[in-house]
Amino acid sequence: MKISSTYLVLLMAGVYGVDVREALHTATVDYNGEDRTLVPQNNYNGWVNPENLAPMPQCIAQQGQSTWLSTMTKCTGKRCTSHFGAICTHHQWLTQLSCLSIAFSSDVIESYFPYCGRSILAKAQLYLWIHNITGRTWLIDVGDANGLQNLSPASLAKGYAAVDVIYNAPPCLTGSDSALSMEPFQHVIASCGFTNTTQHTGNAARPWEYSAFLRSMIALDFETVGYNLVRHHIRDGDYFDKDCFCSAFTIDLEKEPCLGSGQLDFTKERLWINATCGSTSLPDNWTDILKTTQFAYIPIEDWHWPICVADMPKQVIELTDQCATDACGLDSSGYCEVKRAVDRACFCRNISYDSCGGSCHIFENRIDYIKWLHDLCDNVQDWHGLPDNWRQLAAPTPIDMIPWRWTIKPSIDSDIAYITRLGSIRATETCSLNEWKLGSFALVNIATFLAAFLSQRTGIHRIARGFLWHSHPQCWFFKGTLIAALQLLAIWFNVLSVQNTSGYEDVPVIQLMLLWCSMPRLAWLTILLIGLQPFGAMEFSAAASLLFAEMILQSLSSYYMIMTVNYGREHNFYLGGIERAERGRLAKTMYAGALMWLIIIGAALVQLMRAIRKMNRLTGSGSLDPPKSQTAKQTASKIAEELMAPLHEGCAKLREKLAHCWMDKTRGSEETPLTSSQGGDYMVYGTFSVKGQHHWVSQKTFLYTAMVIIMLLLWIAQWLFWGGFIGLSSEEFCPPKLGVLTAVWIASSSIGVIISII
Ligand SMILES: *[C@@H]1O[C@H](CO)[C@@H](O)[C@H](O)[C@H]1NC(C)=O
Ligand SMILES: *[C@@H]1O[C@H](CO)[C@@H](O)[C@H](O)[C@H]1NC(C)=O
Ligand SMILES: *[C@@H]1O[C@H](CO)[C@@H](O)[C@H](O)[C@H]1NC(C)=O
Ligand SMILES: *[C@@H]1O[C@H](CO)[C@@H](O)[C@H](O)[C@H]1NC(C)=O
Ligand SMILES: *[C@@H]1O[C@H](CO)[C@@H](O)[C@H](O)[C@H]1NC(C)=O
Repeated sequence: MKISSTYLVLLMAGVYGVDVREALHTATVDYNGEDRTLVPQNNYNGWVNPENLAPMPQCIAQQGQSTWLSTMTKCTGKRCTSHFGAICTHHQWLTQLSCLSIAFSSDVIESYFPYCGRSILAKAQLYLWIHNITGRTWLIDVGDANGLQNLSPASLAKGYAAVDVIYNAPPCLTGSDSALSMEPFQHVIASCGFTNTTQHTGNAARPWEYSAFLRSMIALDFETVGYNLVRHHIRDGDYFDKDCFCSAFTIDLEKEPCLGSGQLDFTKERLWINATCGSTSLPDNWTDILKTTQFAYIPIEDWHWPICVADMPKQVIELTDQCATDACGLDSSGYCEVKRAVDRACFCRNISYDSCGGSCHIFENRIDYIKWLHDLCDNVQDWHGLPDNWRQLAAPTPIDMIPWRWTIKPSIDSDIAYITRLGSIRATETCSLNEWKLGSFALVNIATFLAAFLSQRTGIHRIARGFLWHSHPQCWFFKGTLIAALQLLAIWFNVLSVQNTSGYEDVPVIQLMLLWCSMPRLAWLTILLIGLQPFGAMEFSAAASLLFAEMILQSLSSYYMIMTVNYGREHNFYLGGIERAERGRLAKTMYAGALMWLIIIGAALVQLMRAIRKMNRLTGSGSLDPPKSQTAKQTASKIAEELMAPLHEGCAKLREKLAHCWMDKTRGSEETPLTSSQGGDYMVYGTFSVKGQHHWVSQKTFLYTAMVIIMLLLWIAQWLFWGGFIGLSSEEFCPPKLGVLTAVWIASSSIGVIISII
């Protein structure tokens, strides 16, 4: 008897603990509740065959069964079941039901109750057994079985968990004892365990037997607690009641079971307790020293390097191996799932911004690298691996936003003499103020304007016309080239003078020349002034020569403009890439200027192409075959018209005024006033088309206006570009001897204007 009871306890504990569960299932016969009735068929005047009694409940089987068995034995006796007259022909060991109902008093139950009462399901199972035997509706005291007949899933206050989760618990926990009761972990799990439906362990057909040898009843079978008691289905398997476990298994926080078993097992233990019982049974700061992948450890599969990983030194790359360790990831239920991970603190301790150089410090890679470092280590205690100005470094710096890599500033070497003497780096001192740099451009512009204005007033052209270029309208080509060459010469001279300054020997000549070609020049105003002159073909020649020179210089400046737009596009500057950058506003101005320049040039070219194509078609199909000069004129006028088409709306007024002015000056009052037209732009020319001469003149007006407006817009774009660039580059762009440079430019552009006019 003793042997059997110990076996059952061990079996149950084993079943729920280790893999003896297999044993349980092999010995299991599914209980078919329907064809088993408690009231046995063979009822001999209140005496029944023990094998017809309901099997032993689980919680009794798991405890010392001696009281239970002796109680049953008391009501069992050898009875005659078959008589032949007065002679008994057959004796059987039978149990008296009325005796049982008295024997299973509350005293007997009380000794089993602390254990059976832990789990509500076990309690309900016991109650059903007692109720069937004794008819009582209570166990020990009246009312203590209330609600047990009507269980629902909510009756398991904290729910249940599959017994499998104990594989997530470290051995130091599963091998430990409850702090208060000293009951082993496995045993507590077993006491709270249940299966999906009631199952039999043992001989289901013969749950009880009277052993004459032991002179006692023995249990051949017992029933597991089934979740079917709550009238719900769950998947096949073994489970335990969490509430039951958590109240029965206590932990002494001073002596946690896994305190001395290493950090990983300790983490596993705490996570297991938290996932099973919640954090109330753990100290407040229980998460502090855990080895979890939530923050302190980064799972290898989530690890990523910054873009510049190729430039990172070997020691840094190897840190992930050196700092690798096992840590707990959380599975869907909150239990530990051991993963390979990188110890964040270990990694961060050994890395700082300067650990990696090369491309890690350049623009987008740098931004990415800083962001990576910041995300990785910023919350690590006592980590100060980022430089103080990291926020600036995390956005494009002014130097990043300059599309080219060369600078104009004195190299430090040549300044050593000054450094030693003045005790400070001279570079910043020698750099003119940005206002001066822009001011020099403004001066050149003003001088150009004055030259144009004065030469017009003083009538140089009239003097010159007399003997020099006696009105050769075709010479605009030559003059234009000359003007452009003069400008380039001035730029070249200036670049050389910069290069010859000590400290500036490294300045790239061609690059700087091309950049200076994009300087804003006042060509539009000069052409406008010339256009207002009351002279015939001469002015056209002057304007054309200036325009031609301007075209040459603009095509040279396209190199830097296109480079800027392209750089901005590549680095996403046009779509918000420089929102947070230092001097971002200046950069925006510069890039907007370059883009505006490109759009204007593009639009002008497109219009020109269209005009030429249209005109080609016209002349190709033309059968009138007009004289050559007339064709040329028509061609020019067509081109002009086409060029102007997109500007028609906005510039109608200006053009009208210009045309009026022009006509007034050329023709005086001898012609019908232009303004008589109904304001429709084409109407103006329509009225003139009958008179070929006038038509040509009006088309020239057109052409002038188009030129002036295009050049005005280009001029604005160039000012934006330079304004932004100078502000942005500041001390990176420090041409020395600004006064000399300005003087040379003033001279060259003034001479250019005069050349164009004479
Ligand atoms: C108790 O008896 C009822 C019928 O009266 C039966 O449905 C139930 O299964 C019995 N319980 C046990 C534990 O045998
Ligand atoms: C419970 O498990 C048994 C096997 O042990 C299975 O046959 C039965 O269908 C399960 N019951 C429910 C309700 O899923
Ligand atoms: C602890 O358990 C609670 C509830 O079960 C859960 O919300 C929380 O995330 C767990 N904490 C940790 C660190 O796993
Ligand atoms: C947790 O807090 C207690 C005091 O509230 C302190 O004694 C203990 O050292 C803390 N443990 C950790 C790991 O921070
Ligand atoms: C990290 O740096 C510490 C000192 O800051 C050093 O003791 C340790 O060896 C380094 N670890 C690795 C993996 O380089």
